[in-house]
Amino acid sequence: MNDSPSKPGSEIKKVALGISGGIAAYKAAEVLRGLQRAGCSVRVAMTKRACEFIQPLTFRALSGTHVIVDDYSPDNPDPIAHITFSQTVDLLIVAPATANIIAKFANGVADDFLTSTYLACTAPVLIAPAMNPTMLGHPATQRNLTQLRQDGVHIVEPDSGEMACGTIGPGRLNDPERIVAAALELLDQRGRVKDLASERLLITTGATREELDPVRFISNRSSGRMGFAVAEAAMSRGAEVSVVAGATTVNAPHGVHVVRALSADEMREAVMKELPKATVFISAAAVADYRPTQRASTKIKKSESSLVLTLERTRDILGEVASARTNGLLVIGFAAETNDVLINAREKLRAKNLDVIVANDVARADAGFDSSENAITIVSRDAQAPLDLPLMSKLGAAHRILDEIVRLRAKSSRQR
Ligand code: CTP
Repeated sequence: MNDSPSKPGSEIKKVALGISGGIAAYKAAEVLRGLQRAGCSVRVAMTKRACEFIQPLTFRALSGTHVIVDDYSPDNPDPIAHITFSQTVDLLIVAPATANIIAKFANGVADDFLTSTYLACTAPVLIAPAMNPTMLGHPATQRNLTQLRQDGVHIVEPDSGEMACGTIGPGRLNDPERIVAAALELLDQRGRVKDLASERLLITTGATREELDPVRFISNRSSGRMGFAVAEAAMSRGAEVSVVAGATTVNAPHGVHVVRALSADEMREAVMKELPKATVFISAAAVADYRPTQRASTKIKKSESSLVLTLERTRDILGEVASARTNGLLVIGFAAETNDVLINAREKLRAKNLDVIVANDVARADAGFDSSENAITIVSRDAQAPLDLPLMSKLGAAHRILDEIVRLRAKSSRQR
């Protein structure tokens, strides 16, 4: 292994795989094999406790290199292993990541090789937590996971199912294939050309909330994942990104500028304020089309057997942005449909005067709202055929939307 990370676009990616001490440690062998099949060169570090579950010899045989457990050990061939190991790789993965290793990472504890490696790491970090559901749900673990997200660590969320301890619940290590897919996506991002370096993206995401009274509101199932995925993908391609976010159930990607705006009205105001700086507007938010005509100032009491609500239309933020656009602003909308997806999307593209519309079928259980994957169709004003994409991660889908921006920009500069 030479001593610098892989050059962007070069074939072999260098991955450090850390294994901490949980029953799922044996599954790290499948992660290692998956990475190797994808052309990565992998070095392995294990905690002492991980060695109780599976022998370093397994990983030495599979990786063809020394497995580091204790960098103070005389058989360690590298005298400053935690630095070379962490600063010459393109990605550090920890799978499984126990509650203990997560707690140490979150608090900067560096009392063994893997934790020192994490602190010294200059590459992106991906962890796949695995633990008993009670340990996962404990406020301390949740606090540590939140801290790691804020620190920019990527997390492959654990699955729900029957655990080795017999309990059923969330905490099982996600599928090795999913961990490998998430790793490859991050490696792909790192090697990306900065083809959006001259763009400033303004993105809306999440659900709006329209208040009925001080305790109740009308909202929808949008999680904010899609807009945040577009933000993350765009930043990795060199764009400046601002996000106006309604209510979201996932965190914003590390380093993105987020303005919070809960109601459709607040979102419109925030968008109009940010818009003059933008070169591209992407409207991924699920904005309420109607809001209560009146908001009660005190809690509505159940005095009658039925309650009639009167709703009024909100303003269409996307339509307003598109109709007032100047200076080559690209405007991209989403069409969340349950039927006649393509027909409805094309009609929205035309009616709102958009450059691109991203259609998705929200009736599918495996995609769309509140899912980490999406199956989108990209319809552009200038293209005859829609681009119908298979089910993929929202980050993958985000990159395909951004590819469309690059194509449109290249086309307009050829026409100039
Ligand atoms: N949108 C918006 N402001 C609104 C409503 C929608 O900016 N008040 C945007 C959404 O962010 C999305 C696009 O418009 O990019 C289409 O939203 P969608 O809900 O699918 O369509 P609507 O235009 O609201 O039409 P309908 O609900 O009748 O399908």
